[in-house]
Amino acid sequence: MLHDEAWTEAFATVPRHAFLPRFFVPAGTRWAAVDRSDPEWLDRVYSRDVLVTQLDDDPDLWDRARADGPVAGVPTSSSSMPAIMAIMLEELLVRDGDRVLEIGTGTGYNAALLCHRCGSGQVSTVDIDPAIAAAAQERLTSCGYAPECATGDGALGFPAGVLFDRILCTASVSRIPLAWLEQTLPGGHIVTTLNRPLGGGLVRLTVGEGTTAEGRILARDGRFMPLRAHRLPPPAELPPADENQWRPTELSMTDVLKPNRHFEFFASLELPGVRPVHVGVDGAFALSHPDGSWARTRRTESGFEVVQGGPRALWELAEDAHRRWEALGRPGRSRFGLTVNSEEQTFWLDDPQSENRWPYG
Ligand SMILES: C[S@@+](CC[C@H](N)C(=O)[O-])C[C@H]1O[C@@H](n2cnc3c(N)ncnc32)[C@H](O)[C@@H]1O
Repeated sequence: MLHDEAWTEAFATVPRHAFLPRFFVPAGTRWAAVDRSDPEWLDRVYSRDVLVTQLDDDPDLWDRARADGPVAGVPTSSSSMPAIMAIMLEELLVRDGDRVLEIGTGTGYNAALLCHRCGSGQVSTVDIDPAIAAAAQERLTSCGYAPECATGDGALGFPAGVLFDRILCTASVSRIPLAWLEQTLPGGHIVTTLNRPLGGGLVRLTVGEGTTAEGRILARDGRFMPLRAHRLPPPAELPPADENQWRPTELSMTDVLKPNRHFEFFASLELPGVRPVHVGVDGAFALSHPDGSWARTRRTESGFEVVQGGPRALWELAEDAHRRWEALGRPGRSRFGLTVNSEEQTFWLDDPQSENRWPYG
């Protein structure tokens, strides 16, 4: 999975368990509290899983879950899947001597890996949540790492306003904050995940002169929770489908929604604002748009069927997009790129000057 020996060495050396004294694990639709005193703790710490450390921005929920049993909540801080951390760290292309800013300190584990690779004096990290930032700093110190830690809104960069060679955001963004471009030296890289209802994933931007940056969507995929101010409102519930309105379709919901299908990124560009919504208990998804349009599909013995409602026929738009995608040679995510400057944030196909362009955000 890792290609760079320096990162392999960092993962082998930095003790993940020191950064995860307690966390939540899924318990049906709720979350149970686990800590060091539980026999499963160490195996879970060294598993491949994401480990959720905070729900609903609430510092007290872990104690409540411990005392009263599993709680409901939405993850708001975690130690990400080590495989995705490894991808992001490698894609940052750090060189000896680089100054690195991490946005989203969380547990402090990723900051510790950065300190191990780059040296503590080269690393700064910021988290918006004061309790999370303080606990991370304590754990980093006790492991012998001393990055510059701050509490604040990472969308504004690092409070001290210094310049970095690399910025790594371990949360996702709905737009690239221009402050990151201003705090990165020309030629430096920004790696982040995109917070989009469809077509999320990783991007590496190279910063140019002035407030400009350009780069590709990365072939290796990864999804993160969004920065606080970039969270999406919950989708509206869908109305029930009319049994008489189902019609056959050759396109599957999986092709539109699954990141491992090549069409998904193009679908996200052609269907702005459309998002997946859970329907039913069997993990099925439908499409929905804030204007009230929606589409559901189902499998039949011979293929798929679709039913739609609302002001726009979303599935016809998805089918049109699929035809355009085929005509363009079925481009996968890494054929798309992103240009950012103070006027625009624009996705393009193959070339920044391409006539195939779509706005971001
Ligand atoms: C997936 S966690 C980061 C994981 C972390 N790097 C680690 O190794 O444990 C995302 C973090 O982003 C933080 N966050 C959310 N919005 C933020 C913002 N605007 N600025 C800085 N941090 C933010 C959350 O508090 C959360 O701790």
